[in-house]
Amino acid sequence: SVEPTISITVVGASGDLAKKKIFPALFALFYEDCLPKHFTIYGYARSKMTDEELREMISGTLTCRIDKRENCGDKMDQFLQRCFYNSGLYNSEENFSELDRKLKEKEVGRLANRLFYLSIPPNIFVDAVKYASSRASSASGWTRVIVEKPFGRDSDSSGELTRSFKQYLTEEQIFRIDHYLGKELVENLSVLRFSNLVFEPLWSRNYIRNVQLIFSEDFGTEGRGGYFDNYGIIRDIMQNHLLQILALFAMETPVTLDAEDIRNEKVKVLRSMRQLTLDNVIVGQYKGHTRGSKSYPAYTDDPTVPNNSLTPTFAALAIFIDNARWDGVPFLMKAGKALHTKGAEIRVQFRHVPGNLYKQNFGADLDKATNELVIRVQPDEGIYLKINNKVPGLGMRLDRSDLNLLYKARYTKEIPDAYETLLLDAIEGEHRLFIRSDELVAAWSLFTPLLKELEEKKIAPELYPYGSRGPVGAHYLAAKHNIRWGDLS
Ligand code: BG6
Repeated sequence: SVEPTISITVVGASGDLAKKKIFPALFALFYEDCLPKHFTIYGYARSKMTDEELREMISGTLTCRIDKRENCGDKMDQFLQRCFYNSGLYNSEENFSELDRKLKEKEVGRLANRLFYLSIPPNIFVDAVKYASSRASSASGWTRVIVEKPFGRDSDSSGELTRSFKQYLTEEQIFRIDHYLGKELVENLSVLRFSNLVFEPLWSRNYIRNVQLIFSEDFGTEGRGGYFDNYGIIRDIMQNHLLQILALFAMETPVTLDAEDIRNEKVKVLRSMRQLTLDNVIVGQYKGHTRGSKSYPAYTDDPTVPNNSLTPTFAALAIFIDNARWDGVPFLMKAGKALHTKGAEIRVQFRHVPGNLYKQNFGADLDKATNELVIRVQPDEGIYLKINNKVPGLGMRLDRSDLNLLYKARYTKEIPDAYETLLLDAIEGEHRLFIRSDELVAAWSLFTPLLKELEEKKIAPELYPYGSRGPVGAHYLAAKHNIRWGDLS
């Protein structure tokens, strides 16, 4: 039988995400021989460009990161020869029909599958979906659409978006991307938990005291203030990336590893989360700061951000899951921009050993003896477990040491970018790492009332200096639940 063709159309091809992530990920997949044999890549955007100019534009960002192999240049040329460009408006039937004609020319005689990646601002999502699916969908094979967040900014707008999409596409055709789900250590979470006897039975309120999900960036909203000010850190990071990690972390054991089974469990745990309240939330915003001869801008220094903006660039909050497994366990989330360091971690603090014989060795402060499992999502991917150990020598002195699985020491192969993993899944029709519409509903129901309250009451964010550890309020919040934040390593 004749092998099918696949076209991948990047809608919004001249945008940042396309240049930095999507094209490089497609090239990496090609390099690894993971793309189907007969593929074509199309860039679609408003700017006028020739095929050659598109190739020129993307060649600058393709890298041969994998082993820096010698034939990389050849591979790159082969890849670029299969990239084409179609200039068009996102709400033009005619322009999408043009694209359709061009795609057809490359599909002659074969079953044709088409994947569209929408990397465009939310106000034009619906038009692009409409015309891509009505004017440029495949006549013989499948048509799938990858969409990037924001999937609305609250329950209502998100529901509306979902309804509009469903006029044109089935749930099967939609791939809502949350790139954190494509990160190696996030995907590994299930393996760690469900295939290790030393962890699986401990995964509940009986042994876990609290869980911390921490996201930190050491730069501000540079250049993205216009977008960011309409969303804020809670929508930008927590409602999606951190909440998705939490759902995977806390869900019940799925029946199988099938996408539907996993997502059924994620929805259940999301719906078991207690409504968020203001007394369990603190918000912050970075202010300008001078260190030595260098000065760092305040969030509101961004010309696209209003001077009196109350948009949080930092937030910390406590989530409770009202089910049998997690009753009473605080899940703390913390996310911020313009902090002292960059990283993302999941930290699991275990309970104290009852009747600990070595209590006095910790100066009676059993918190110093807490076992802690740290999953470092980035950078320096790794997993480590803090255990108590006797310091070798005469006498009895204890310390806490790490059992350490540092990926770069253990595995020689480089970790693929999240977008590679996710694009490959979409090409293969695997939904496991994409958000189903009912998950989205549950995620927004958790956050919408809180966001509304913050906005209606005009809660002023606590200011923190650019490059600092964030507002002290975060520590009070943790202390209220008897918790100390683990330090981002
Ligand atoms: C995006 C947010 O979803 O994730 C950005 O919109 C953020 O604000 C980015 O910087 C972080 O992703 P990563 O993969 O660099 O940690």
